[in-house]
Amino acid sequence: MRLPSTGLSVAHPPHPARATSFAVAETVRELQPYQAVSSLEQIGARPDQVPHKLDWNEATVPPSPRVIEAISAFLTNTHHLNWYPVLNSTNLIERLARHWDVEGDRLLITNGSDQALDTICATYLNPDDPVLVPSPTYTHFLVFAQTRGARIVPFYGADPFQPAFDALLEAATRVRPKLLYLVNPNNPTGVMYTPDEVAALLAAVPETLVIVDEAYSEFAGSTCIGLLHTYSNLVVTRTFSKAYGIAGLRIGYALAHPEVVRDMRRVFNPKSVNVLAQIGAMAALDDQAWLRWYLDEVAASKRALREWFEARGIVLHLTPANYYMAKFDRAPWVAQTLAEHGVYVRDRSGQRNLDGYLRFTIGTLEQTRQVTDILGSVLDRLR
Ligand SMILES: Cc1ncc(COP(=O)(O)O)c(C=O)c1O
Repeated sequence: MRLPSTGLSVAHPPHPARATSFAVAETVRELQPYQAVSSLEQIGARPDQVPHKLDWNEATVPPSPRVIEAISAFLTNTHHLNWYPVLNSTNLIERLARHWDVEGDRLLITNGSDQALDTICATYLNPDDPVLVPSPTYTHFLVFAQTRGARIVPFYGADPFQPAFDALLEAATRVRPKLLYLVNPNNPTGVMYTPDEVAALLAAVPETLVIVDEAYSEFAGSTCIGLLHTYSNLVVTRTFSKAYGIAGLRIGYALAHPEVVRDMRRVFNPKSVNVLAQIGAMAALDDQAWLRWYLDEVAASKRALREWFEARGIVLHLTPANYYMAKFDRAPWVAQTLAEHGVYVRDRSGQRNLDGYLRFTIGTLEQTRQVTDILGSVLDRLR
């Protein structure tokens, strides 16, 4: 291999014949690598097909054109890719503080909201700390908590698609967890608790840090951010990956009491968020008209979906977020056949109480019509 600037050659050492003898951390020993099942590779292999990528709850359309313009302008005119980004994304903190009418010291901007969740776990969890997790839910959080040796205490309501507030309150007061991870609305079931219910939880377990993951909150039109002024044991996490359509840039944030944010900064790397993500997020935030348009499209799709599924007598759970769950007799076959036609969905059958359910991301009305046409023809083959 030749190094471009020096012309020097470096010899690659041969791969060792044996695996290394490094012992992974005890807290990691039980974990398996995340089974990534994104459809991107399949989509790349079928350039002849118009894909419907409905498996990861991303936006189904490109973001506001302002995002592309802002990033292009930066790359064309400024081009300081050789410099680290603005540390701690203070530029975006200012914008978001105005957007939410909160003080800037309540905000931590992160590399996807995943990093916010990881940072909370790194900051607060000791081995064996109990972490209460209403389930089934977004599983990657469990990795962050388990890596710190925490003890996951799953909470299952009687019906996975219905809130179970009293039982959850009872579990929280009984377990007294160090963290409670509440995805609101929940992925994949859509279960959602009102800000009043979340306030009651916060009041009942003041020594528990309650994470309210609002990854899909824009679609639901409800947020617990207002509770931050009353409760210091609340962290809200949010993302630009879903409604704002910039999942590829990886940017999200946490809102919390200033002392919680200060604690999180003890472990947070201030250059985690890349410059293009910072610029893209600011441009996305500036185009609320685009956001409104996309939310309206998803809402219109939900109305069409309700009619379509009702007419066919298929069990459907529309969620307050940008996805629905539908139940099929041969769910894996349906998912695979849809994929052959360019519609990629997520089989959630493996999760407890979700046997036979596929999760579909919801896009624009036109996309929804295309998808239901394809789904209709696939289901006709089942008869
Ligand atoms: C509930 C929930 N939280 C967090 C994330 C991760 O989001 P981000 O792209 O901001 O890391 C996802 C992604 O699917 C999610 O469903």
